[in-house]
Amino acid sequence: MQVKHFLQLKDLEQSELDYLFKRARTMKQRLGKGELYQPLRAKTLAMLFEKNSTRTRVSFEVGMNQLGGSAMFLSPRDTQLGRGEPIEDVAEVISRMVDIVMIRTFEQDIVERFAAHSKVPVINGLTDEYHPCQILADIFTYIEKRGSIKGKTVAWIGDSNNVCNTWLQAAKILDFNMHIATPPEYEVEPERGESFESMHMECFSDPHDAARDADLVTTDVWTSMGYEDETEDRKQDFQDFRVDEEMMALAKPDALFMHCLPAHRGEEVSAGVIDGPQSVVWDEAENRLHTQKALVEYLLLGKIKEQ
Ligand code: CP
Ligand code: NVA
Repeated sequence: MQVKHFLQLKDLEQSELDYLFKRARTMKQRLGKGELYQPLRAKTLAMLFEKNSTRTRVSFEVGMNQLGGSAMFLSPRDTQLGRGEPIEDVAEVISRMVDIVMIRTFEQDIVERFAAHSKVPVINGLTDEYHPCQILADIFTYIEKRGSIKGKTVAWIGDSNNVCNTWLQAAKILDFNMHIATPPEYEVEPERGESFESMHMECFSDPHDAARDADLVTTDVWTSMGYEDETEDRKQDFQDFRVDEEMMALAKPDALFMHCLPAHRGEEVSAGVIDGPQSVVWDEAENRLHTQKALVEYLLLGKIKEQ
């Protein structure tokens, strides 16, 4: 049987995403009641981190513990990866010992190559191109607060980065609209063979126009991991792309604000917005735990029939 990986959001169909959102809700409710649910006893998740992490590491590690299994943190500093062992060889070896793997790295090509040599499911825990686990949590959070995201408008303000690219994949699968505002030189590149329209996306040069009438406004750091050399230039280039109270006032009155975190108050978002009443960033971060538990369970055990 072919191993199922989660390397991009579009590796899952709409019905699979809908299943995961439902399953995450059940997982969250059961945990809230203090119920033990441990179908992954003796299963191990290997986590390879080539970039820093707070949420991804903690949510996967805690999630595996709650499901009865365990998680192993590996960094290039401690493994032979840091001394040049080929990623293909690492995949061959690790996947003979563990049951599932999560990787946070630089180029998407690295997770693709690992997966091509892996006997067990591989999850993308963030690459330069995509952050699919984040968008699982973000859309689950939207559904929790406001119901279906179908037909809604999500305004993305800032860099056309990994999180933005993943939102765009979600918009196409789940049928909602993206309003994207980036500075010139940082625009989204449509996927090969796609038009902006087929991607459910409209681009705006003024971020206020993108935020107007949106159901959800979201942003991310101006400088992602791996681009630190550009920090000072980006601070200049993104000055007008801060989500602040004035911008939120243009969105629908019940619009939510999300940020994958970590955040820089006073840069991509004002303190008043991220710490204000429309912000759901803490629930969004917590929901990484519940959605990833549903994901790991699905990749290892398939769909579970609920009573
Ligand atoms: N949002 C997110 O992935 O956070 P970490 O970088 O802390 O894992
Ligand atoms: N775009 C950010 C997300 C961090 C979770 C980065 O890649 O650094």
